[in-house]
Amino acid sequence: MKKRFWTLLMIVAAFTLVLAGCGAKENTSTGDAPADGGAKDKVYKVGTEATFAPFESIDDKGNIVGLDVDILQAIADEMGFKVEWENIGWEPVFQTIKNGETHIGASGITINEERKASFDFTEPYYESQLLIVVKEDSDIKSLADLKDKKISVQINATGHMAAKKLQGDASTNIMAFENQPVAIQEMLNGNVDATIGDNAVIYEYIKANPNAKLKVIEDDAFEKEYYGFMVKKGNTELLKLLNEGLQKIKDNGKLAEITGQDFK
Ligand code: ARG
Repeated sequence: MKKRFWTLLMIVAAFTLVLAGCGAKENTSTGDAPADGGAKDKVYKVGTEATFAPFESIDDKGNIVGLDVDILQAIADEMGFKVEWENIGWEPVFQTIKNGETHIGASGITINEERKASFDFTEPYYESQLLIVVKEDSDIKSLADLKDKKISVQINATGHMAAKKLQGDASTNIMAFENQPVAIQEMLNGNVDATIGDNAVIYEYIKANPNAKLKVIEDDAFEKEYYGFMVKKGNTELLKLLNEGLQKIKDNGKLAEITGQDFK
């Protein structure tokens, strides 16, 4: 009797282990692409900071929408994988790709050497440039004019890097915020003299806030920037998949159709 009980218990335990094993496998199956490189029906988690229209924002229904969403969806359609978007915030995009919680960073992310040391990027899909925004009545005219002025930026964005390059890393005149709209608001509130941000996003903000009384200053002292999708360093399989799809939508005109920018 006793022996039978133990046998039964062991069978139950063995089953539990097998089931747990299956479960664990299923949970991690959204990780790396399968060994054969096939991506059919795979679901990749996409991290973003969605206050960055026209690239990513939240619509009336609470959905993440924008050019990045459309571009990545077009790539996913070409390559037969699925994406699951999450609005996690700017710095968490980088942190969660590093720790593997997120697979793709799609957030108007500029490809640069500093980031390439820690992440891998697809080929570029959009050309961008920083610009300066001031109040309509400001007498600031160029980047050089900002040398001793108070500047607001999105933290660890390229605008932040440009401000540090101008004023030095330790400058107390630079105020860094979680996202670009807050940085603009700080300038409108009179807490800083100027904001630096990505051109398409600033122009979109002005379009959406026609009464804000803002003036934009373009300056070729800002270098051209290129957006790419970001993955964990060494995730060559996913990178290949994204690049292949991106090349397809460059070739068939879909990318240009989405962005309105003829970028190859
Ligand atoms: N292009 C800039 C950068 O890479 C700003 C990107 C900010 N993106 C966002 N979704 N808030 O640093």
